[in-house]
Amino acid sequence: MKDIRGLLLASGLTTVGAEIIVRDTTPRYCANGASDVCFRFGIPKSSADSGSGNIYFQIQAPSTYSWVALGTGDQMSGSNMFVMYQDGSGNLTLSPRLGTGHTMPKEDTSSTAAKLGLLAGSGVVNGIMTANVVCPNCESWDGGSGSLSLTDTASNWIAAWKSGSSLATTSKSASISQHDDHDQFQLDLTKATVSSDSNPFLEEDNANPGTGNGGGSGGGSSGGGGGNDDPEVVAGPGNPFAPIAGGRRRDAALIAHSVIMTATFAALYPLGSMLMPLTGSWIAHAIWQSVAFIMMWVGFGLGIRVAQDRNMLFNNTHTKLGAAVVVLLLIQPVLGILHHNYFLKHRERGAISYAHIWWGRILLTLAVINGGLGLKLANAGNSAVVAYAIIAAVCFGIYAIVKSWAVVRRGRQSGPHFRKGDNFTHQQRYSVGRQPYRPRNRV
Ligand code: HEM
Ligand SMILES: *[C@@H]1O[C@H](CO)[C@@H](O)[C@H](O)[C@H]1NC(C)=O
Repeated sequence: MKDIRGLLLASGLTTVGAEIIVRDTTPRYCANGASDVCFRFGIPKSSADSGSGNIYFQIQAPSTYSWVALGTGDQMSGSNMFVMYQDGSGNLTLSPRLGTGHTMPKEDTSSTAAKLGLLAGSGVVNGIMTANVVCPNCESWDGGSGSLSLTDTASNWIAAWKSGSSLATTSKSASISQHDDHDQFQLDLTKATVSSDSNPFLEEDNANPGTGNGGGSGGGSSGGGGGNDDPEVVAGPGNPFAPIAGGRRRDAALIAHSVIMTATFAALYPLGSMLMPLTGSWIAHAIWQSVAFIMMWVGFGLGIRVAQDRNMLFNNTHTKLGAAVVVLLLIQPVLGILHHNYFLKHRERGAISYAHIWWGRILLTLAVINGGLGLKLANAGNSAVVAYAIIAAVCFGIYAIVKSWAVVRRGRQSGPHFRKGDNFTHQQRYSVGRQPYRPRNRV
């Protein structure tokens, strides 16, 4: 869903979702996926010319958010983050933090920490939190290893937010819980230039009370001055924002994990169990399921990697249930062999056979449900969810049809023809497909 919106936006077809609004001289970007979480930027000409100095930005969001953050770069790691939350007395706390990966960013207390200043016009008014911020040293951080060029025509930014109650603290090191979602966008800083080195948001807020909704205008970073339907608003310096389609960095390992696990559990395993009634060949069945078994472990390894990387190993149902299913499936091949031996000896199913069949069915069902939990955990888009549901439904549908058919056929062949003493082969016992030999007195 988000991906689709991002694409539509990138092609300038709609203004639903992220809004690109230009007011006066400071461009405004509203995050994709959040409601009214918006940012404005103003780079004084003097700072742009000298490459350092004050920069101004605004973070605005409804007070239904517990915290909202803006950060440099395209991922958490290495980002110079500016986290905003309520101070408990009608104003806001700005917390400069350093991103270190997929964990809570801690307050930057180093000498290069962003010296964030709260300016006039800030506060919590009518359920809207507005922080007008000046940063005199945001062109470098973390001892100089991170940097922001004030004239970058494609500077990368990230944003994240968490809805919930007010943190009500003036502490810059307050602990915050993980975001509901995040976004990524690019900004042409040369289009955010303001002439004087002073709070550029004050005038706009006074001139345009309730800055909430302006006319959206299409176009990406290249689109110069798209439409603006509010005649009172002076057209800004074009549309310097380019929301990154999809807005999130997709981990290759995560995609591989999802694809392999879907293929294994929704397709390979159920198809492999059908091979038994379809071909009657236990060898084909065993080889096929062994391949699926190996794929499962590859997918499992990838999943562990992703979860470790994201600090979500065994702290959620998807990873716990997934690990349980994979481990419990370890005995499935053993049950298969035991069933096979039993069958060779007795020429009919025994308790062990039903253990093999039902152990597999139960775990496969759990695995397919767990796939849904995984999609939820990864905040997967609607298209991925729909694709997954279709694949699972089709494969299990075919499986159910084939199995019922097998039962019906076996039912017809049962009776006196399949007694313990009969020397039938696997094929004759199970096959409903090609049968080299059928009992002569078959109905
Ligand atoms: C308690 C604080 C935080 C925790 C535990 C946390 C954890 C995570 C986790 C587990 C992911 C990967 C899963 C996903 O994509 O949703 C992630 C991604 C992301 N987070 Fe955070 N985060 C925190 C704070 C922040 C803050 C303050 C920002 C600031 C802007 C931020 C920005 C992002 C972005 C842009 C991504 C996607 C890019 C990437 O993978 O780095 N996060 N975070
Ligand atoms: C919030 O703090 C800023 C900076 O001290 C100040 O200018 C502003 O008026 C305060 N807002 C409210 C609502 O008190």
